[in-house]
Amino acid sequence: MTLHSSAPIGVFDSGLGGLTVLRELQKHVPERHYLYLGDNARCPYGTKGADTIRRYALECAHFLMHHGVGALVVACNTASAIAYSALVKECSLPIVSTIDPAVRAALKATKNNRIAVLCTNATCASGVYEAALRSVRGDVDVVTQPCPLFVPLVEAGMLSGEIVEKVIELYLADIRRRGVDTVILGCTHYPLLVESIRAFLGEGVAIVECGTEIAREIRALVGPAPVVRVTREDKYFVTDEVGQFNSLATTVLGSDGIQATKVDSLTFAEYLPQTIAS
Ligand code: DGL
Repeated sequence: MTLHSSAPIGVFDSGLGGLTVLRELQKHVPERHYLYLGDNARCPYGTKGADTIRRYALECAHFLMHHGVGALVVACNTASAIAYSALVKECSLPIVSTIDPAVRAALKATKNNRIAVLCTNATCASGVYEAALRSVRGDVDVVTQPCPLFVPLVEAGMLSGEIVEKVIELYLADIRRRGVDTVILGCTHYPLLVESIRAFLGEGVAIVECGTEIAREIRALVGPAPVVRVTREDKYFVTDEVGQFNSLATTVLGSDGIQATKVDSLTFAEYLPQTIAS
């Protein structure tokens, strides 16, 4: 599908994690406007059940569609893993998820065919990454490791230090022992911990984030970059406190003073079409 209109591109996540995708979109597709939604009132998604995650994802998508987006980036692996087919079925616009871009990048990076996927409980339970990796390369050795404490650390702005290192050791000691040469950060919050993860795993392990690959997909969708520079007017919405979001978004995106608007997720059901609202 090609995106002809100049409509903004909607990007959503359960909270701050999708900013790691938005950062790459703003860098590689700078001429488009973006609407970002961080559903931080209902974060984390990764510890919730599939029905709940699917409902949240549909509500976020319809909220963004109501605000005029022409394409959707599901900047959340959990929503991508659980809700992608429901989103494609219920939303008639181009939708890019995190899974295939990360899988492509990992298969390109690995030399010994041993890949680890770090992700939320829900993404792990879905088996989506193993299935996607094996559908391209049947003999790939995949280990999936849930890292549920990473998300609250990131949401609290704790990106390094002793506690982060201890939690990384807890989750990654076994991965390091197995000799994988490629690790997929299968949750968009995790790139915010990448320095500490890299320090633990060592330089010999390739760390894959989906952001750059997603930006490449969006570039293909929107066509070549225009010659004339466009001034972007991005908008940010969160469903709970704006303070922590504003300060971390300002750091992650390297922009001046981001000011998010607070919206109430309790009203999100209103954006759903009648067919799925009940
Ligand atoms: N950043 C999200 C992901 O990529 C969600 C994390 C969560 O809310 O548990 O999976």
